[in-house]
Amino acid sequence: MSLPIVVLALLFTLHIPACCKATDTISAGQALAGNDRLVSSNGKFALGFFQTSSKSSHNASNWYLGIWFNQVSKRTPAWVANGDEPVTGPTSPKATISGDGNLVIVDQATKSIIWSTQADVTANITMAKLLDNGNLVLQNTSNSSVVLWQSFDYPTNTHLAGAKLGRNKVTGLNRRLVSRKNSVDPASGMYSYELTDNNGSARFILAALNSSISYWSSGEWNGHYFGSIPEMTGQRLIDFTFVNNDEEEYFTYTLLDNTTIMRFTLDISGQTKIFLWVENAQDWVPTYTNPKQCDVYGVCGAFTVCEENKHPICNCMKGFSVRSPNDWELGRRNSSKEFATRDAYEYFPLLVAHKLLDGDAGSLVDQNLHGDVHLEQVERGFRVACWCIQDNELDRPTMSEVVQYLEGFVEVGIPPVPRLLQAIAGNAYSK
Ligand SMILES: *[C@@H]1O[C@H](CO)[C@@H](O)[C@H](O)[C@H]1NC(C)=O
Ligand SMILES: *[C@@H]1O[C@H](CO)[C@@H](O)[C@H](O)[C@H]1NC(C)=O
Ligand SMILES: *[C@@H]1O[C@H](CO)[C@@H](O)[C@H](O)[C@H]1NC(C)=O
Ligand SMILES: *[C@@H]1O[C@H](CO)[C@@H](O)[C@H](O)[C@H]1NC(C)=O
Ligand SMILES: *[C@@H]1O[C@H](CO)[C@@H](O)[C@H](O)[C@H]1NC(C)=O
Ligand SMILES: *[C@@H]1O[C@H](CO)[C@@H](O)[C@H](O)[C@H]1NC(C)=O
Ligand SMILES: *[C@@H]1O[C@H](CO)[C@@H](O)[C@H](O)[C@H]1NC(C)=O
Ligand SMILES: *[C@@H]1O[C@H](CO)[C@@H](O)[C@H](O)[C@H]1NC(C)=O
Repeated sequence: MSLPIVVLALLFTLHIPACCKATDTISAGQALAGNDRLVSSNGKFALGFFQTSSKSSHNASNWYLGIWFNQVSKRTPAWVANGDEPVTGPTSPKATISGDGNLVIVDQATKSIIWSTQADVTANITMAKLLDNGNLVLQNTSNSSVVLWQSFDYPTNTHLAGAKLGRNKVTGLNRRLVSRKNSVDPASGMYSYELTDNNGSARFILAALNSSISYWSSGEWNGHYFGSIPEMTGQRLIDFTFVNNDEEEYFTYTLLDNTTIMRFTLDISGQTKIFLWVENAQDWVPTYTNPKQCDVYGVCGAFTVCEENKHPICNCMKGFSVRSPNDWELGRRNSSKEFATRDAYEYFPLLVAHKLLDGDAGSLVDQNLHGDVHLEQVERGFRVACWCIQDNELDRPTMSEVVQYLEGFVEVGIPPVPRLLQAIAGNAYSK
């Protein structure tokens, strides 16, 4: 934080009348701004504005309305309202109940509403309350059991105890986790974690956001746990439930010990992680991580090499450079082909594998042919070739399969980039 912002922040605190003890509600006519906080009645969660400033723009700070763990010394948002729509500028926005009964964030500089709970409120008498489990609810002031909107229905990257991940079959609402862009910016990042149900076979999948490319599955719910996570049984941290009825299908859990401070998070790394707050260490300690880092789709970006036991695990292939040094530092890795030199392009097998993933095999065709080729056949040939150089022997097709693929009798899928080759190429280049 640069000095001017610290000074401004101080000014704000000085100007806010010390009217309110820590409260857990915002009612019509009240506003939350600057360093105001809602604190849940058990003291575990707080809601308020926080700001971030990135290295590339020291003095431009972004303001977000979020809920964080109130009892830990590291500010850790468990939910962010406007991650994709920050309010920029020195002045804190305010959160208030608008005339239509919704909770809104108002940019005080422009007087515009930049975020709203957008609930279908028929009565304009509502209030927002931060519950003990970290759920922010918009409720009917005269009847608190009428919940018009709740943050648990719109999770960001964290699944809190008591929240449901999954689908409401009646409304179509799908609650899923989306990773953050990087460790500073809470905007939507690259990965999603959601419950899917394929004809009664329910499982969580990790996927590249908004694409059908999934890179990990929890395994099917077998009535006791998800098949690929046997660790779920025999642990003493949480009690969990999977519910599937006519109205909804979801997974939820509760903490066995209410003094535990824990979060289940879809990390920027594309991995799901459980962190426990360890008071002695004053830090979050991961106790569960799935899947392995190099198994995450596109973890290192194109033209990089992933090696699980190296630090850092991602390195650019020779001839490529970091596209956005800032993002790289913040935990997202990306390298760009625009920076590629001929060196790297000359390692043809890898180039082919990457072009196939990019859906751009056509660009490899000899230009002297002037496009006079059957692109489908070209792509099929490339695919088969790449399957034949897979790391795992069992992934490689037999000769008779190759013939069937090439004849077009059997569909051939897009092959993954052979990791071993990529590692070898990377090492050879870096010597
Ligand atoms: C930061 O503030 C300084 C001085 O006010 C200004 O010259 C500079 O352009 C600002 N930088 C950004 C990124 O806003
Ligand atoms: C709520 O609605 C009533 C009747 O529609 C209206 O008279 C009143 O001003 C509204 N209150 C607020 C706070 O908007
Ligand atoms: C409050 O709302 C609940 C759920 O809609 C309803 O069952 C209950 O009767 C309401 N209570 C009052 C006092 O109106
Ligand atoms: C709010 O609660 C009051 C009292 O129970 C009820 O009369 C009114 O219809 C409720 N409004 C909504 C939108 O649920
Ligand atoms: C869905 O499951 C039912 C019962 O297990 C089975 O009879 C049916 O063939 C399945 N449908 C598909 C499309 O797999
Ligand atoms: C993903 O889909 C959501 C909802 O359709 C959309 O709002 C968002 O912009 C998409 N994100 C990306 C990265 O495409
Ligand atoms: C934990 O649960 C016990 C028993 O239900 C209760 O007395 C205590 O206040 C709870 N502590 C917290 C921090 O919620
Ligand atoms: C990575 O770079 C590509 C362009 O090469 C860009 O489209 C993409 O948004 C970048 N991803 C991230 C997370 O910055």
